[in-house]
Amino acid sequence: KKGAYPYYMLKEIDEQPGVMRTLIQEYFNEDGSVKIDQELLDALSKADRLYIVAAGTSYHAGLVGKELFEKLVHIPTEIHVASEFAYNPPLLSEKPFFIFLTQSGETADSRQVLTQVNEWGYPSLTITNVANSTLSREATYTLLLHAGPEIAVASTKAYTAQIALEAILVKAYGEAKDIKAAKDFDVAVELTKVANGMQELVDEKGDIEKVAQDMFATTRNAFYIGRGVDYALAQEAALKLKEVSYVQTEGFASGELKHGTIALIEEGTPVVAIITDPKTAAHTRSNAQEVIARGANVLFISSRDVAAEGDQIILPEVDPLLSPLVSVVPTQLLAYYVSLQRGYDVDKPRNLAKSVTVE
Ligand code: F6R
Repeated sequence: KKGAYPYYMLKEIDEQPGVMRTLIQEYFNEDGSVKIDQELLDALSKADRLYIVAAGTSYHAGLVGKELFEKLVHIPTEIHVASEFAYNPPLLSEKPFFIFLTQSGETADSRQVLTQVNEWGYPSLTITNVANSTLSREATYTLLLHAGPEIAVASTKAYTAQIALEAILVKAYGEAKDIKAAKDFDVAVELTKVANGMQELVDEKGDIEKVAQDMFATTRNAFYIGRGVDYALAQEAALKLKEVSYVQTEGFASGELKHGTIALIEEGTPVVAIITDPKTAAHTRSNAQEVIARGANVLFISSRDVAAEGDQIILPEVDPLLSPLVSVVPTQLLAYYVSLQRGYDVDKPRNLAKSVTVE
């Protein structure tokens, strides 16, 4: 039931702080230890490389997962688009472990890869929102997202739940392997900070509604730029905007734009710069200046610690690796309001289905 909400998408955006809290309840014991099946952790520990396989928004959650696994527990992690993996698999390591990220658990492209993985005899984990879904039944292990039903076609709370659960899994793996960076990473505390930060952002949705009106009312194209996890977020933010508002949007690595695509910047083209990482903040800002010099209308979304005077949206501070969990919120809201203001059916964008069960 969407109750007082005009659309499920808005309701599901608003539910995200609660989803973070549910995940903490589901996956942490009273003593603070992580509640994840030991057998799964043993199987993961034996792997020499992880292969994350997913489509669409779930793929974008996987991009962040790769950063978490590599930075915190130092295990090489590849991320693959399911439909590409299916016909053009990469060279595999000796002991691969597969992670399928899928909200619905029914995506045909991902199912096809899992069938292949099972024929090869490799271990696998499905991270899904739907218990007993096909990908859950066919994988060796399952972890549930506990995000509650996601009705709007555009995925929002499943994306943030996937990233949060990846962080929890990384923590459990790091504890099992006695890795210092993971032991020092207090995921329950960090996710609580995230939940509070998300709440601040959804409470200020009026700011985004205004930005949508001021900057996106008539535009036909737009860009998101960022580096590192902000680049991963840029790709998800771009998908969200284009799928519900039909504004052609690209998510770009900040430094890559000038290698060709900057040719598309015209007077008034909206460019959203996502800046959360102190290491690269200055570089992304200088890329933003390059587009401003060509007429772009730049919206800065930055974390409090790296914010500059004039930045329009300020994000609450969270662990840098978890920043997509908060930076995604204004981008979801932006997609929602641009679609709403153009008079579209936000929950049912044209040409799309909630789960893509054909190849
Ligand atoms: C975008 C969206 C899709 C899905 C993709 C994978 O908002 O919802 O890109 O993320 O079709 O679906 P699942 O996660 O169910 O495998």
